[in-house]
Amino acid sequence: MSSILGKLEMTSPVDLLPIEKTKIVGLPKITDTRGNLTFVESNNHIPFDIKRVYYLYDVPGGAERGGHGHKALHQLIIAISGSFDIHLDDGHSKKTVHMNRSYNGLYLCPMIWREIDNFSSGAVCLVLASDYYDEEDYYRDYDQFIIDARKEG
Ligand code: TYD
Repeated sequence: MSSILGKLEMTSPVDLLPIEKTKIVGLPKITDTRGNLTFVESNNHIPFDIKRVYYLYDVPGGAERGGHGHKALHQLIIAISGSFDIHLDDGHSKKTVHMNRSYNGLYLCPMIWREIDNFSSGAVCLVLASDYYDEEDYYRDYDQFIIDARKEG
C-alpha cells in the first residue's frame, strides 16, 4: 500500500537541511454537500506518532506566536480555519509559508525556528506533535538556537 509517509521518507534523506525536510502535506479531503471532512493518520500522512494536540485561537490582530525552536519534536501545523504565515529558519536558510487551507498541513522536523504571524480574524492553528509538552525541548533563545543549528548543519 503506498502511503504519503513513503513519499516523505523518500524525499527527506538525512543529509538534507531541516528546512529542506519541511513539506506541505496534502491531507485527504472527503467532499460532501453537508460539509467537507479531512483526517490525519499517524505514520501514514505524517512520519510520527501523535502524542499531543494543541491549538491557537482567539489570536488578536497583529499578534505573533511561536518564536522558538524544538530540539527533538516533530509537528504538523494546520490552518483549521482562516490563515496565517509561518516563518521558518534553520540557521542556514529561511522561508515563509502561507497557510490557508484546512486540508494542508506543514510538516516540521526538529531544529527549525518558527514564528507565526499575520493571523486572519478567527484563525485557528492546529498543531499535532510527536511528544508531550516539555520545556526542556525548547530553544527560546534565538542566538543559542543559531549556534547549535550551525553546529549540526
Ligand atoms: P508556547 O509553545 O511558547 O506558545 P507559542 O505557540 O506562542 O510558541 O507555549 C505558551 C505557553 O503554553 C507556555 O507557558 C507553555 C504552555 N504550553 C503548555 O503548557 N502545553 C503545551 O502543549 C504548549 C504547546 C504550551
